[in-house]
Amino acid sequence: MTFDTFDIGGDMKVRRLGYGAMRVAGPGVWGPPRDREAVLATLRAIPEVGIDFIDTADSYGPDVSETLIREALFPYPEGLRIATKAGFMRPGPGEWRPNGNPDYLIRQARQSREALGVETIDLWQLHRIDPAVPQDEQFAAIRQLIDSGVIRHAGLSEVSVTQIEAARRVFPVATVQNRYNLADRQSEAVLDHCEAHGIGFIPWFPLAAGRLTQPGSILDRIATAHEASVGQIAIAWLLRRSPVILPIPGTSSVAHLQENARARHIRLTDEEFAQLDAAGR
Ligand SMILES: NC(=O)c1ccc[n+]([C@@H]2O[C@H](COP(=O)([O-])OP(=O)(O)OC[C@H]3O[C@@H](n4cnc5c(N)ncnc54)[C@H](OP(=O)(O)O)[C@@H]3O)[C@@H](O)[C@H]2O)c1
Repeated sequence: MTFDTFDIGGDMKVRRLGYGAMRVAGPGVWGPPRDREAVLATLRAIPEVGIDFIDTADSYGPDVSETLIREALFPYPEGLRIATKAGFMRPGPGEWRPNGNPDYLIRQARQSREALGVETIDLWQLHRIDPAVPQDEQFAAIRQLIDSGVIRHAGLSEVSVTQIEAARRVFPVATVQNRYNLADRQSEAVLDHCEAHGIGFIPWFPLAAGRLTQPGSILDRIATAHEASVGQIAIAWLLRRSPVILPIPGTSSVAHLQENARARHIRLTDEEFAQLDAAGR
């Protein structure tokens, strides 16, 4: 592990700035994208900007995001790692319904493997623990997916420390994906727990910084000092916050992809980090 890379599950090295492929689907994360060519161009540019980690899910579209990733990038460049998820059914645009039925999870993971065109899914994440199904049954399904070679590593999303520890009794938890950014720090304890156990922490909605984006704010002043955008500084802050953090900003524009990827090279000073940290709390 260096500042630039993280080893998922201890053995799958990725650069610490990935790409989130939720927004390549249509409005409400439903159906095909409005501008299919722009989305394909953005996906094709991912390796060119030095990103080797993509996060998607069966439910983005549903099935649209995984299919577009394959269309744009297959055969995949050496070293590109694709993470997907299951555990949400999609009754309609903007609607998400948890389904943690073990048979359903296993079927969906197999389907994602087909959709992505891979022998083994690099990282598969339980999108939500379904409160209507005993969690150990959902964890046992994940254990089965690992043991049968459908997936290499497994992770969780939107979980507490207690849930991570319960899961770790059944399978090795490689990653946790919770909403987290400079201005949304509810998962601070989960992040600290992940850092202590070498679990990758994938903050979703990484670019959000709420009121901190206002002109004259500390974020705005630090961005100006680095000749960077506030979004780039929000990413740079995440990278500095913990060596297990793997941000996955999402976009369907090549220009935004390039801008986000450049954030990897911004190094905040100790003072800038502390000022941002205090302002975001
Ligand atoms: N586990 C979960 O439950 C969960 C939930 C939500 C998301 N996720 C994952 O997290 C990823 C990221 O989350 P997110 O997409 O909600 O939030 P995000 O990446 O923080 O923000 C995406 C939004 O910011 C805009 N944007 C991106 N780069 C920009 C730039 N350089 N300048 C200006 N605007 C920019 C995008 O619009 P443009 O397309 O115009 O650039 C888009 O509207 C998703 O793709 C998904 O993989 C996971």
